[in-house]
Amino acid sequence: MKGVLLAGGNGTRLAPLTRLMNKHLLPVGRHPMIAYGVERLRQAGVTDLLLVTGARSLGLYGEYFEDGRDFGVRITYRVQEQAGGIAEAVELAKGFIVPGDRFVVLLGDNLFLDDLDSYISNFVRQPAGSARVLLSPVEDPHRYGVPVFASDGSGRVERIEEKPSQPQSGYAVTGIYMYDHTVFDLIEVIHPSSRGELEITDVNNLYAVQGKLQYDILSKWWCDAGTFESLQEASERMKDVLP
Ligand code: G1P
Repeated sequence: MKGVLLAGGNGTRLAPLTRLMNKHLLPVGRHPMIAYGVERLRQAGVTDLLLVTGARSLGLYGEYFEDGRDFGVRITYRVQEQAGGIAEAVELAKGFIVPGDRFVVLLGDNLFLDDLDSYISNFVRQPAGSARVLLSPVEDPHRYGVPVFASDGSGRVERIEEKPSQPQSGYAVTGIYMYDHTVFDLIEVIHPSSRGELEITDVNNLYAVQGKLQYDILSKWWCDAGTFESLQEASERMKDVLP
């Protein structure tokens, strides 16, 4: 199992802080935000990592992690030239991920307390060519990708709606995704959304229509630390996670 950490984007909701500093390097507890994602993957035995970020910040990540050795992982870096969406960033992992590999994608601003081990084990048991997403119950689902469960009571995710005005469930699709090499074929067939990005939700929906999307529900606290409020909450919640 390999890991792909996404740490690009403009972080406009956290301006003016992010005028100087890539969002995923902002302090959370005693560490830069991205350190928690690296540690979560390492704990789950995922130590071969690709970190995708913008050209402007690449040097800082390199200075902090170097090749990852001091953090118990091996980090390869790749530059995302412009903020073209999560699916576009995942596409940059092609080459690092080779046929036969499976990998976990983590959005660097997703902070959480669950260990990933059991969810990764569930994914390993899935057939090739399928995908897995992790969900979290939230009070404000309209801010996220929201799963729509099948009405036949099977518990299957029928589709995901991206930031719907009328959410069909009380869950967010978190930025923790599991794929194999087939994801690159699916990214090739999607088109930019109205916000001009290649949406990971469109990719996940291609798995869902084929009945190849499975999920787990996180059992502990999760947040997308993309706003000042959530960043502050994350700092408080994560302060004892990494010494
Ligand atoms: C992205 C995804 C969304 C997901 C969220 C989790 O949203 O598009 O489906 O729920 O991450 O953090 P964004 O942060 O790009 O608006």
